[in-house]
Amino acid sequence: MTQDWFATARTLSEALPYMQRYSGAVVVIKFGGHAMGDAEEMASFARDIVLMRQVGVNPVIVHGGGPMINQMLGKLNIQSDFVRGKRVTDAATMEVVEMVLSGVVNKRIVQAIQNEGGNAVGLSGKDGGTLICEADDPDLGLVGRPVAMDPSLLHHLFKGGFIPVIAPLGMGREGETFNVNGDTAAGVIAAGLKADRLLLLTDVAGVKDANGDVVTQLSPDHVRELTSQGVIAGGMIPKTETALAALDGGVRAVVILDGRAPNACLLELFTDHGAGSIIRDSAPQITPRD
Ligand SMILES: Nc1ncnc2c1ncn2[C@@H]1O[C@H](COP(=O)(O)OP(=O)(O)OP(=O)(O)O)[C@@H](O)[C@H]1O
Ligand SMILES: [Mg+2]
Repeated sequence: MTQDWFATARTLSEALPYMQRYSGAVVVIKFGGHAMGDAEEMASFARDIVLMRQVGVNPVIVHGGGPMINQMLGKLNIQSDFVRGKRVTDAATMEVVEMVLSGVVNKRIVQAIQNEGGNAVGLSGKDGGTLICEADDPDLGLVGRPVAMDPSLLHHLFKGGFIPVIAPLGMGREGETFNVNGDTAAGVIAAGLKADRLLLLTDVAGVKDANGDVVTQLSPDHVRELTSQGVIAGGMIPKTETALAALDGGVRAVVILDGRAPNACLLELFTDHGAGSIIRDSAPQITPRD
């Protein structure tokens, strides 16, 4: 029994250099709809976020909600199609998307953070003019491509000690509401904040190669190669596209990891071990996970 306490103390002590490294840093976390597990897993995620804030990190959560949107569209008998990993969004779909993202998923995350003693504020990219969008592609309807990001509201929230929780919606110049892919929104927000890390939490252990092995470190060139081979497909496409755009936009590194794994964010930020696939400009070595 006694030894467990020594181990706890040692773990805390070993985390010190990481805590110092990330103190004051902005870490944007995309919490995918597929990464959201049951209430216990949500509580564990929220605890990690509150711990980050406690040690001086400024976490920003940008969430998805694909499965929850599908469920509601199903109940309402509204069909929806995907093109290159993005949802085709007409006006009827958009209403449901906003209702589910801002009304249900966003508040569930806010509540989980409050329950763990943090102070979260739920908003969408529409609030404070944070995300201004244009139509992404005529085939996709109301899917928005962010063209401007205003970080002022988020800086105010950081100063007040709040944890922003952002639903991936944006406004058009004519006042339209756009549905933004959660990964895309997280990337643009991370770039606008010049974040130290962008963590894309999903339901797979990382980016897999043709053999199905997780690649722990990738360079942008390797990402492009896997994409042209069709190995990176479906919902992984917006993630890796986001990763490359975020690096170009000044984010130091992007990590794609399994949000359902216990303490995934802490493992990535506060240990040498890391988690998932890290994408950065100078990958010193590229090795499949053992
Ligand atoms: N090379 C690859 N490596 C890993 N996953 C891949 C790869 N190619 C395609 N995928 C798929 O991408 C999926 C992750 O994207 P998906 O959009 O489904 O989830 P999410 O973005 O986490 O959730 P949401 O879209 O609800 O926010 C994985 O579950 C996997 O099926
Ligand atoms: Mg997705």
